[in-house]
Amino acid sequence: MTPAMPSQLFYGGDYNPEQWGREVWLEDMRLMREAGVNLVTLAVFSWATLEVADGVYEFGWLDEIIGLLHENGISVDLATATASPPAWLTIANPEVLPVNYQGTRLSHGGRQGYCISSPIYKAKSGQLAAKLAERYGKHPAIKMWHVNNEYGCHNPICYCDVSALAWREWLKKRYSNLEELNLAWGTNFWSQRYHSWDEVLPPRETPTGTYPNPSMTLDYRRFSNDQILDLYLNERDIIRGFDSVNPITTNFMSMKHTSVLDYWQWAKEVDFVATDHYLMADDERNYIDLAFQADLTRGFAGGKPWLLMEHSTSAVNWQERNIPKAQGEMLANSLSHVARGSNGAMFFQWRQSISGSEKFHSAMVPHTGEKSRIWHNVKELGAKLQELKALAGSETEIAEVAMIFDYQSWWALSQRNLPSTSISYPELAHDWYRALWELGLRVDFVAPGSSAAELSNYKVVLAPMLYLLNTDDEQALIDYSKAGGSLVVSYFTGISNEVDAVKLGGYGGSLVRDHLGVFVDEFAPVRLGEKVSLSNGMSGSEWSQFATTSSADELASYVDGLALGSTALAKSASGRDWYVGTRLDDASNQQLFASLAAELQLEQLGGKGVEVINRGGLQLSIDHNTNRVSWKANV
Ligand code: GAL
Repeated sequence: MTPAMPSQLFYGGDYNPEQWGREVWLEDMRLMREAGVNLVTLAVFSWATLEVADGVYEFGWLDEIIGLLHENGISVDLATATASPPAWLTIANPEVLPVNYQGTRLSHGGRQGYCISSPIYKAKSGQLAAKLAERYGKHPAIKMWHVNNEYGCHNPICYCDVSALAWREWLKKRYSNLEELNLAWGTNFWSQRYHSWDEVLPPRETPTGTYPNPSMTLDYRRFSNDQILDLYLNERDIIRGFDSVNPITTNFMSMKHTSVLDYWQWAKEVDFVATDHYLMADDERNYIDLAFQADLTRGFAGGKPWLLMEHSTSAVNWQERNIPKAQGEMLANSLSHVARGSNGAMFFQWRQSISGSEKFHSAMVPHTGEKSRIWHNVKELGAKLQELKALAGSETEIAEVAMIFDYQSWWALSQRNLPSTSISYPELAHDWYRALWELGLRVDFVAPGSSAAELSNYKVVLAPMLYLLNTDDEQALIDYSKAGGSLVVSYFTGISNEVDAVKLGGYGGSLVRDHLGVFVDEFAPVRLGEKVSLSNGMSGSEWSQFATTSSADELASYVDGLALGSTALAKSASGRDWYVGTRLDDASNQQLFASLAAELQLEQLGGKGVEVINRGGLQLSIDHNTNRVSWKANV
């Protein structure tokens, strides 16, 4: 049995005491107690202050601060400090630094400056994790381990020669021989056929206007994900050797445009799921993106509680315009995460820095100190979490709607040479989710490859742009539907198999062509800024297609544009499955999902700017029009 997350609502944030003098540490303890902080994440970027030269460790300051926190009743989420290697390591071993797509070796000085396939980085990070686990594994203040930090945030892919060697070994395990690889990647195209493993390079930049082989590029994303996961597993297993009691995790990145890792795979390897989420200030309804990411994170956690490891008290420092949070917005954000399954609310960071590139990022203790608006809000949130502490360990109520979210389809769709560069996997998934949110319909996220039995927990399963679909996964969707479930399938679903080779005989394979009964003949992307109108009054953009129904019932056709007269919206002969052939605008999506909710008699709670979520014995309600939060017993 692996250790579980303690059943507690956590409150606190990243704590970087090495940026401050001892007198500030004492003030920190007082303020943390005042705000109700019960957990801090220590040492995330401390490698250079803990290992000052190769093999020379200085743990004195960390001993002291862990002791002080413990005396003050504050627990520690101890990071392994391996997120940013110190200068001495990369100066002595320049090959540890990553190489970008263009072949340039990057420099020390930012963060995460390491190649994900570097054996030197792996050995040195493992050594540091061992030292920390040995020294602090049994310290009573330690509650959990925080391996590295946001893996792959800045260095998701490396194109160096060391990576090339690891890549070939990875390929030899995936493909039993070179001929199999040649076939999978379709290398007879453009003279790409390989005759020896040594000829296979990372998909580096190619002559202008050409791109590396798409199947190869997709595999390189899979390889990179696996290399990073291997680094995590190395540290995790080392820690486990010293500490079998405290849970071990790492913080994922739940962001609309972050696709670096396949978190469905990662979730199996952490003792509990933890994630970071930041609002995009330019998005006026960014609380819906927050809800999407929180629900997705709960999906990774299999419905169990998870932990929001970072969010911001107010503005960040890395967007074009860093807009602060409105009054009440922080509380609304934090409680939305809690309602959707987080066992608490943690922030980046405790005390706002005065130096370094994050000095204008908000924190729990801002530059202006205790007289600030933010500090007042921080104390208020601490008190609310105290009132809600009985929620710890409880689960958010299961939804009636499931959405399949697939990082690997996203990777394939992030490449060039598709029918249109305007199509965006996360945008379509978010469009659909936004409509459901506004209608008060709650969504659970499920992994691609879920079995028909797993899907049968839901009345309806959504598959927006599930581009890669292998035969087994396709069959699971068909079986789910045949057993009485409802599918909503979008354009550009089921186009290719797992090696990104197109399925022939009507786009969308047997799911779309045979099961749904829609024959998609040719794609007709819509020009930028133009719209297509549908015969039922709806409208869409970006995509249309030459399509007809075979067994399906046509609900709407295009009344203008190139695909005039073609099927735009259809329902399968069973009357239970929908096919959506364009990127509907917001009003049309709401119309579509409202009729679906009515037909399937789905429960609607809240809506129109108000979210209502049941967790534990409570019904939490968060009104984003006013930023007011409330809860009552859920009877
Ligand atoms: C996260 C990171 C933190 C901090 C934060 C700022 O990506 O883990 O260390 O940089 O962003 O928003």
